Amino acid sequence: MEARQLRIGVIGGDGIGPEVVREAIKVLSAVSPPASLAFDELPYGADHTLETGVTLPPGEMERFARDYDALLLGALGDPRIPDMRHAVDILMGARRKLDLYINKRPVRLLQDRLTPLKDRHRGDIDLVIFRENTEGAYAGIGGALKAGTRDEVAVTEMIATWKGTDRIVRAAFEWARANGRRRVCMASKYNAIPHAHGLWARVFREVSAEFPDIEATALFADVVAMELVRDPTRFDVIVTSNLLGDILSDLAAQIVGGIGLAPSANIHPGRTSLFEPVHGSAPDIAGRGLANPLAAVLTGAMMLRHLDRREDAARVEAAVDRVLHEGSTTPDLGGTLTTAGVGDAVVEALGRDR
Ligand SMILES: NC(=O)c1ccc[n+]([C@@H]2O[C@H](COP(=O)([O-])OP(=O)(O)OC[C@H]3O[C@@H](n4cnc5c(N)ncnc54)[C@H](O)[C@@H]3O)[C@@H](O)[C@H]2O)c1
Repeated sequence: MEARQLRIGVIGGDGIGPEVVREAIKVLSAVSPPASLAFDELPYGADHTLETGVTLPPGEMERFARDYDALLLGALGDPRIPDMRHAVDILMGARRKLDLYINKRPVRLLQDRLTPLKDRHRGDIDLVIFRENTEGAYAGIGGALKAGTRDEVAVTEMIATWKGTDRIVRAAFEWARANGRRRVCMASKYNAIPHAHGLWARVFREVSAEFPDIEATALFADVVAMELVRDPTRFDVIVTSNLLGDILSDLAAQIVGGIGLAPSANIHPGRTSLFEPVHGSAPDIAGRGLANPLAAVLTGAMMLRHLDRREDAARVEAAVDRVLHEGSTTPDLGGTLTTAGVGDAVVEALGRDR
């Protein structure tokens, strides 16, 4: 039976975003049956914002939800737009308007040589971070008084709702159970943030009681940061709030090879979801062929798996494994290939798996 054509809205974005997304599309097109994926490349990003004055046209996010099976994003961030209003409208806008409450960030050591940790091997580090993606300190609530003066008072509210906390904690436990994982750890700061994170602690206790087969541990986020370096083998799934998840996932990415290898998904089950590498637009290396496209390629594999193209996703991951094994990488991982060269190497490795 012919696979249904999936429509993917693509926002390359800024800096290295378009460069790495181009390679992801190259690999996804190579692994998928002909015409089974349609990529709709969208112009949004810093250039578009500066040229038109519009970050995202009204109604566009709603159209994405109607027209696309998924969104693939490179990165947003440009020094010419210091207030990041385009990223706020596009990326934060998607997370909020499409209610993409699960930010899923797998952290897996693929090659021994990629970890800076001593005596850690492939298989030792294999965890998934479930970061709450719509609330916390990133909810956008706050304001400033007497801005720009020495009397300035700036307030950002951190919010936690029962519903928002329950659904992300539940998603973490359900994923653990469905994927044969034994442990879920909550990272919070309920000692120092008693109201918002006190709610997290209570919800975590309640939800964990429904999953007696899964070992539930509540740790302070600073302890989790420490433990990720000291003994990452103790984690299967980490569930945490928006701000803490942002920080812990960058730390976690570093122990498996850096953000050039870190994929992520912004998900609302059953709805149009958004897939993006963890890294930003890296203006320091943009346009020089130095960007590692593997985070974007692995992000593409997450997207395929989410869209039920499991075999294709596994083939992409195996090809990335092979490329890493052979050392066909960009300079951040010690190789000499360009961004496009790594994309070609993954496509070539795919061709060898038949
Ligand atoms: N989701 C997003 O779109 C997102 C995420 C983080 C940062 N940003 C934005 O990106 C801009 C730059 O932010 P930053 O410098 O803090 O973070 P960054 O992730 O862009 O870069 C951090 C460092 O990692 C390197 N790096 C990043 N991706 C790489 C890759 N694929 N291959 C090789 N090296 C890579 C960069 O060269 C830089 O030295 C800012 O405007 C920031 O707000 C966007």
